[in-house]
Formats: sequence, C-alpha cells, structure tokens
Amino acid sequence: MYTQQDEQRLYEQAKQLLKTQPDSPEEHIAQLREVINYADWKYYVQSDPALADVEYDTLFKQLNHTEDKYPELVTAYSPTQRVAQGLSERFPTVSHLVPMLSLDNTYNAEDLTDWDRKCRELAETEELEYCVEPKYDGASISLIYDNGSLARGATRGDGVMGEDVTANIRQIKAIPLSAALVKQGVTQVEIRGEIVIHKNVFEAYNKQRIAEGLSPLANPRNAASGTLRILDPAEVKKRGLNAILYHISDYTLADGAERPKQLGTHYGSLRWLYDLGFPTPAKEMKVFKHIDDVIAYCHEFEEQRDSLAFEVDGLVIKVNDFAMQDKMGMTSHHPRWAVAYKFKARQATSKLLDVEFQVGRVGAITPVAKIEPVPIGGVTVKSVSLFNEDVIREKDLRIGDTVLVERAGDVIPYIVKPLAELRTGEEKEIIFPTHCPACNSELEKQQDEAAWRCINIVCPVQVVERMIHFASKDAMDIRSLGGANVQKLYEKGLLPDIAGIYNIDWNKVKELGGFGEKSVTNLQEAIELSKKQPLNRLIYALGIRHVGETTAKTLASAVANINEFYDWDVEKLATLEDIGPKVATSVVDFFAREQNRETIRKLGEAGVNLENEHRGEQMTSGELSGKTFLFTGTLSHFKRSDAEAMVEAKGGSILGGVSSKLNYLVVGEDAGSKLEKAKKLGTVNILTEQEFLTLIEQ
Ligand code: IVH
Repeated sequence: MYTQQDEQRLYEQAKQLLKTQPDSPEEHIAQLREVINYADWKYYVQSDPALADVEYDTLFKQLNHTEDKYPELVTAYSPTQRVAQGLSERFPTVSHLVPMLSLDNTYNAEDLTDWDRKCRELAETEELEYCVEPKYDGASISLIYDNGSLARGATRGDGVMGEDVTANIRQIKAIPLSAALVKQGVTQVEIRGEIVIHKNVFEAYNKQRIAEGLSPLANPRNAASGTLRILDPAEVKKRGLNAILYHISDYTLADGAERPKQLGTHYGSLRWLYDLGFPTPAKEMKVFKHIDDVIAYCHEFEEQRDSLAFEVDGLVIKVNDFAMQDKMGMTSHHPRWAVAYKFKARQATSKLLDVEFQVGRVGAITPVAKIEPVPIGGVTVKSVSLFNEDVIREKDLRIGDTVLVERAGDVIPYIVKPLAELRTGEEKEIIFPTHCPACNSELEKQQDEAAWRCINIVCPVQVVERMIHFASKDAMDIRSLGGANVQKLYEKGLLPDIAGIYNIDWNKVKELGGFGEKSVTNLQEAIELSKKQPLNRLIYALGIRHVGETTAKTLASAVANINEFYDWDVEKLATLEDIGPKVATSVVDFFAREQNRETIRKLGEAGVNLENEHRGEQMTSGELSGKTFLFTGTLSHFKRSDAEAMVEAKGGSILGGVSSKLNYLVVGEDAGSKLEKAKKLGTVNILTEQEFLTLIEQ
C-alpha cells in the first residue's frame, strides 16, 4: 500500500507538521489527512505504530481544529469522520449495536481544565459530577446479553464492525455466562469493557516462553489482544485472561418494566453491574464535583500505577449523569462526555551502542543490547535483552540504530523496533559469535530451536548460573545466596556445584573476609530452611530445560519421590497435563544423566526434601474461588498488593474487614485489632505469611 519512500516522506511530513504548519488551510488539512491515514494504517493494520501517541493526538487535534474553523473543507473521507480501520479475516464480522468509539486524550492539568470548561458549556450547567476510573491497557470488547445470557462477544474492529470472538470470550472466567438481568426488567444489554491480563499471569507466561526458548511478549496489552484472537478456545482458556467492564452502551427494557434506578448515572450503572456479578471497577471508581479534585486524584493515582494488578495507562474521566451525557453527545471519534488522562509514556527512543553475548544456566547464548541510558517510567534503562538471534534478524537491528524501547510497568524492557527511517548508512550488522564467550567451546543449535548453546556442562558461567537459579526466590529461596556471593564462593573453590551448597566449609568462608559473623549465620539459616521446600520448588530449582514453575508443579504432583522419575519414559511423561514431547524429552534426558542423579543423591543425603507430601493435589487457576482473604500487619515476605493479586489470580477475593464472611486472615508483624476480632469470631483461619505461601503454592 505504501512504498518505503512514501513511508519515509510521510514520517518526515508528520514531524514537520508538529513543528510548523502551512499557511493555506487547504494545504494544511490535506497534509494532516495524509499523515493521519498513514499513521492509522500503521497502527491498526500493520500493528506497528509510526508515531508516539502524543504526536498522533496533536496532529489529530490540529485537523479537528482546522476543520472546525473551515467547515466547508470537511469531507466524508476525512479521518475525523470515522474511527480507524483494521479487521482480521479469521473471525466472522458482526456489527456493533452502537459504534465503538475511542476516547479523546489529555496529558496534563491544563488539558483537563479546558475539557471541564467545554463540558460545562455543552451541558449548560456549573453542577457537573465526574466519575474517575482506571484506563485499562488491554483489548476492547463488546458483550451482548440476551435475556440474561451471554449471546455475543466481539472485538472493536473498525468501531462499526467487529470480530465475533464469542467462543474465546466464554473461556474468560471473569465474564458471567448468565446474569439475573431479566429480574431487573432488562431483556438486552450491550456492555463495553477491556480484556486484560493480570501482571502476574503475564509474567508467569513470559517466564514459560523464555524457558521454552521463545521470545517473551512485549506487554500485557499485546498478550491480551493476541490471545483473544487465537483460533483455539482451549488455548485461550489456558492463558488466564481477565476482563473489566466499564460502560453500558445500550439496553432494552421488557414491556412495561421500569428502568432500574441505578441506571441514571455511570457510577450507579457500574455498581449495578457489579452487584449482578460483572467485573467492573466498582471499587476503584471515585466521584468528584470539581475538576481540581479530579486533577489531584490523577496525580496521586499515577504514583501508584505499578501497585495495581493490571497494567493501567491512564485514567478515564466521565460525566456521571447519563442525562447530561446524552445532552453532550459525541463526535464521530469520541464521546464528548468522557476523556482519557494519559500517564507519562513508557516508551522512549535511544541508540543501540553494542550487543553483548551472555551465557545462561542451560547454556543458551542471549544477546543483550547495550543502549544509550534512557529514563523510562522512573528507571534508567541501559541494557535490554534481545533473547536470540532470530529476534535480531526479524527486527533487522543494527548497531548504531535509533531504537524504540518500551518498559511496561514492572515488565522487563523490550526493544520494539529500530527506526529504520533514521538510518544514516553507518549502522553495522550484529555478528553472532560461533564460540562460547565464557569457555570458548563451539556453539551448537538444534533444528527446532532459536537459541545457540554452549553444551559444555562444566562451562564456568553455566555452573554459577545454575547455582544462582537454584537459590533464587522462586526456586529454593535461599536468601543472601545471590549472584555476588555465589560467584565469590565459586571463585574461591568453596562452592563447586549445587550439591556443594549443603556442604560448605564455613571456617574457610569466615577466613575469606567479606563475610561477617551475622551474614554467615543468616546464610546458614537460609540454607537450612531451604531443605524443607516442597518438591515442586526443588524440581524447578534443578533447572531442567523447558521446565518452568508450572511444569515443575505438574511434575511434583505426579510422584511421591523425585527418584520415581528415573523410571519414567517420554510416553509416560506426556500423559501429564500440558507436558508435550519437547518437555518430556528434556526431563528424561535430565534424569538419565549420571551427574544429575549424583546431585540429587547428595541433596537427599544432606537432608533436602525429595518427597511430595501432597501427591495428587494440584492447584488450578480457580482453586480459591469463593474463598475470601484479608491481610493485616506488616508483611515481610511479600508486598500486600502482590499477595492480593495472587489470591485474585486463583479466583479468591479480598475483603475490606473482618466479618463472618472472611475465610482467611493472613497476619504479618504487629497485627492489631483485626487479629483480635478474627480470634473472637472463631470462624476465621489465621495464617502466617509462610502458611499463606504454602497454601497458594500447593
Ligand atoms: S470508555 C464510549 N473506560 O481505552 C465509551 N474506555 O483509548 C468509551 N479503555 O477504546 C470507552 N479503560 O478500549 C473507557 N475505563 C475505561 C477504559 C477505556 C480502557 C480503552 C477503551 C477505549 C480506549 C481509548
């Protein structure tokens, strides 16, 4: 559709329009339409944005503004007269009952104050109430319920027609398949919302992808929208998507039925849905009467964006009263009664200075981009993993390129793409090494794999990395045995391998210097504690290729003792849920190796738990469904928000106080009145942090 020259020209034209505008309105409008159409095509059809959001919005505003001034120049084909396009051909297309519009964006207090002024003008009142809620960063969706049953789920598509993804939507447990709407007099309703992915679920999924040698997905948004369009609903089910519903776009009442009272305001409508079992931001919504309070809340909320379970890229401010909303109406692009306040961007451009090659614990060589340090979301990014050679080739990265870097929340930074249009011709090809940078053995690559590997099992970097992984938080959780200590003890010959962790000569460690009395005691205690870790952690800690935390749990629950795996073959392993031939072969290879058997024997002799006390029990994603939790006191093992997210990810819910409805109270240090009250009630299970972790993990 566009040639490379077109693309280069339009990119330059966009940059130019941001700086200076042509005097003639005809020329100005023509240029803007051309670049906006191009940017829409890049964004919606190519899924490869050409402009930053702020730049796009600025150009769109220029066009709106100029067309407002010269209405005779408006044509039906202007980008202001429609929502942007882009449909996949894989799902049947369906029309939305009401067009799915976008939102207008604001970035600062001034924009919001302007918007507030316009709202009051349009509504012809000074008494407006605003409802503020998070702007979820996922894939937008429309749901139709007919006579109380989920009848259709569709993607946004071009805003008028979407893709029918009902079969996939039905796999999302947060979305009720039926609800008591008819009792409320409502025969049909269309609800809008966002399909999102829990940050924890997203990270676990990416860990799994990395363990399988695949490159991780850039952010939860891509993961959500990609998953929604997978053609196999069973695969969608496994991915643990979630949903938040934030708008009733249409409803029909039964003959003679009275409109439910709550359907007079946005706040009321989302509470109403929530009470009927729909996932809405009922608890996150806030209502304000003054824009200054809205602005203060926006600033306060932005500070906490990382503590939320889902990725949020801003807040949405909506006029609360539906009658006012109707009065204000909409443009063909967005409703006038709502606006998004966008948080600071988490993308930035930088220069690719060099690529280093690191050796991982299973020998995979990972290229790591060294970039000119650049702040993104409060963190200075200077190193970005490139995962494997294929990623470099697919993105056509070159040393010296200007690159677009993204860091979404706590997610690891990621190179989105090089800005090829900015190349000078001086950029250099990235040459992948043929030999291990640590031990110089020749690298190998298996046919179906993306990674080059060093297969020297005693390659010093791999030995150290294996120990670091073994001791890490999600594995055996040996506090204070981090990378620096492992490296130091290994170099001094005091820690030759994994089994050696339980056989350290502490006198020699003390002689070394750098380890005080207290740190030695801490290390000894942490090592001792790790002996009691459940079997799934040990299996994960052993660092078997392709075995992530989830697979380790599946494996652990299939045996009473790890030694049983010595007799298992690929066929038997493949009978376990979610274990395919690749993982099965890797597990068989691992347990067949004499060196690994020796390690396991030594671990057992040292007193490390090799047994599974909870054989046959397996935690599924909805295992805590119907269970309620509350956290109190100072938690030292995890952040409260993380723990709450873990509960929710497994289907449980968090209560605000102690009552007869509470099932579990998790107590940290200095727990006060809540603990007292729970004890008095006598019906609440009181858990320590460790007990809570065990409950969640098993
Ligand atoms: S209201 C007419 N509320 O943001 C109703 N949208 O950038 C318009 N979004 O297309 C949408 N969180 O996909 C609304 N709380 C929220 C939202 C939200 C995320 C998405 C939605 C919209 C996009 C615009």
